[in-house]
Amino acid sequence: MRKTIVAANWKMNKDVDEASEFVYAFQEEMKDLDPNAEVVICPPFIALDAVAELLQESGFKLGAQNIHYENDGAFTGEISARMLKSLGVHYVIVGHSERRQFFGETDEIVAKKVKKALSSDLKVILCVGESLSERDGGVTEKVLERQVKAALDGLTAQQLTSLVIAYEPIWAIGTGRNATPQQAQDAHAFIRSTVAGMFGKEVATSLTIQYGGSVKPENAAELLSRPDVDGALVGGASLKADSFAKIVKSSPASK
Ligand code: 13P
Repeated sequence: MRKTIVAANWKMNKDVDEASEFVYAFQEEMKDLDPNAEVVICPPFIALDAVAELLQESGFKLGAQNIHYENDGAFTGEISARMLKSLGVHYVIVGHSERRQFFGETDEIVAKKVKKALSSDLKVILCVGESLSERDGGVTEKVLERQVKAALDGLTAQQLTSLVIAYEPIWAIGTGRNATPQQAQDAHAFIRSTVAGMFGKEVATSLTIQYGGSVKPENAAELLSRPDVDGALVGGASLKADSFAKIVKSSPASK
């Protein structure tokens, strides 16, 4: 059995006050409701502390959007696993396509970050996904296989229990053009079979695979109804408490 996980990735949005307002409003929306899904909120670094405080006792989990792979040292502007842990962070997003695209994160860097996070007791949301030209060129599976293998190589089956994969086709991010439920299902099934090839069927069956890319209240339920789509990583539609709450409420229980 695997957990449905719905995560909000706010990217570079919201100051501390706006983040706090969201949490108040979201908790109000979710009042008296026990969501089927695990809910993760990933604010920018500057709001982690305030959101951690407000989420205490809520059952919702706190996530960061990035991490450095070293413990400490001369890495101006970077944040380590230990620092995130000290703020009560549970999850960290690693390898988001925006980090790969705009900040030069290679498969090798992503793999180092995954290892550091897991060995520091943080859970990882590992993002993978193809560009439009890769999809049009018929190499989607090749790209996904390369990204998954590079990031998971050398991990133990035990570590995989603290890892989630988010399939985020780049052409669907922030474009309003989501993958069709069937496109998402096909990619998720392929990712699961790649993980099965590396770690065995049992590990792969328990792995939560989220879909990300223009998830909205209107399309979430249908996307998440597919057998291998186990949650969502939501950007734009997670910035408003009511729309994120609608997505959470429409998410099915564990599969
Ligand atoms: P959008 O939901 O805005 O398309 O962003 C998806 C995403 O990149 C989440 O990490």
